[in-house]
Amino acid sequence: MTDTSLARNLERTGQGHIVEHLSKLEPAARERLERQLAGFDYDLVARLAEIAVQDGPDRSVDDFEPAPVLPLSRSAERVRAARRTGTEAVKSGTVAAFVVAGGQGSRLGYDGPKGCYSIGPISGKSLFQIHAEKTLALARRHGVTIPFYVMTNRTNDAAIRSFFEQNDYFGLESENVLLCSQRMLPAFDKNGRFILAAPDRVFVSPDGHGGAYHALLAGGALDDMARRGIEHISYVQVDNPLVPTIDPLFIGEHVQAESDMSSKVLEKRDPMEKLGVFGCVDGELRVIEYSDMSDDLKRARRHDGSLKYRYGSIAVHVIGRRFARRMAEVNLPFHVARKRIPYVNTDGERIEPEKRNGRKVERFVFDAIPLARNPVVMEVSRADEFAPVKNAEGDDSPATCRDAMMAKDRRRLARAGVNVPDDIAVEISPLFDLNTEHLAAAGLSDLSGRDRIYLE
Ligand code: UD1
Repeated sequence: MTDTSLARNLERTGQGHIVEHLSKLEPAARERLERQLAGFDYDLVARLAEIAVQDGPDRSVDDFEPAPVLPLSRSAERVRAARRTGTEAVKSGTVAAFVVAGGQGSRLGYDGPKGCYSIGPISGKSLFQIHAEKTLALARRHGVTIPFYVMTNRTNDAAIRSFFEQNDYFGLESENVLLCSQRMLPAFDKNGRFILAAPDRVFVSPDGHGGAYHALLAGGALDDMARRGIEHISYVQVDNPLVPTIDPLFIGEHVQAESDMSSKVLEKRDPMEKLGVFGCVDGELRVIEYSDMSDDLKRARRHDGSLKYRYGSIAVHVIGRRFARRMAEVNLPFHVARKRIPYVNTDGERIEPEKRNGRKVERFVFDAIPLARNPVVMEVSRADEFAPVKNAEGDDSPATCRDAMMAKDRRRLARAGVNVPDDIAVEISPLFDLNTEHLAAAGLSDLSGRDRIYLE
């Protein structure tokens, strides 16, 4: 007999089919499914089911003013001052790194947590190792401890935990690495009913990167930050190894503006590039997702012929710790994504649907921006900061990312006075101290004649 309060919760949220299904299961399978079902918050389920079945709300926007952006070309004096402020914040131990890695990386087609994917063009280092070492290098440079937080999800948490353990936390102290797992939410069919992924399991998926605020709170990370005196959280996506995991210049702009949440943008490659856009809608600064803009709107031009919405979000933010705590307690909106979700039918057969049969609900981290004080939107250079690994091939793939990493390292060496052939394969470890004397001492002032170099 199914637990009566569970049955009541299922019935009242429109999940009567699950009550019936439970009654047909063998005791062991029933117990497994009941255990999963008992973990859901049914007031939330009721809300989500209602949102999932709506055909809207249509979030598409007609026309809006692009947000003011702090351009790349600004005075050297301003850049120096911001960098100084940001460096002071790092030195005083008030900045933490936060890497979100709870996504499913389905487009990449890699069978494992995306952060474990090997991306170093020569070293083969994983995405996690690169972010961890960038953080470690900055901490060493300033003689401080920088805590490193990672958002996982319930299904990849154990694998990520053992990846860090097996690799000795990539040189970080284990007590300074904290993983917190985001919530999983059930998906729904078009009638707001749970979907069975297996006879003894309802289909669930991560609650979106907007689940980060709740994950940081529930996982104890926000308390841990408060104890350590952290004020600024440097938020990056695990899929972009080109970006500085912590950028003193960006931190500095955020601090000087007394902002709650700041963001990086860059010039879109073309109008159709799949990046969110910052805009002012009804007097609020917010991110408009690429999927909510019509193609005509994406292509809109100004009188001078320039693209109206020329800046795209690279999903890199500085978030104030206190603001993050507030956001963990605010009901940020849920977004519905229609997906193809394999399921089992009432006869226990697995079905691979041809059409999108399911609706996942997710929160977005940037939906907090309209609630933020003085949000800064800062332009950065694509070549230096954005080469995400999203697709198995083509744009934003491992191949384009490795090329961008090597091109950046070639430029860095050239800036340090080294003669660098155009086609040489180069990788500089984040832990390598790149300074002119160092390079000269190592006899690295001219690399012509070589076909590859790895600086460790
Ligand atoms: C995202 C942004 C887009 C931005 C682009 C830049 C959304 C809806 N859009 O697009 O505005 O221009 O990145 O690269 O996010 N993640 C979690 N938990 C989740 C879902 C995602 O941790 O539940 C993490 C992923 O691990 C990844 C990141 O968030 O690190 C981005 O997720 P992804 O789904 O790849 O976003 P995009 O659609 O590429």
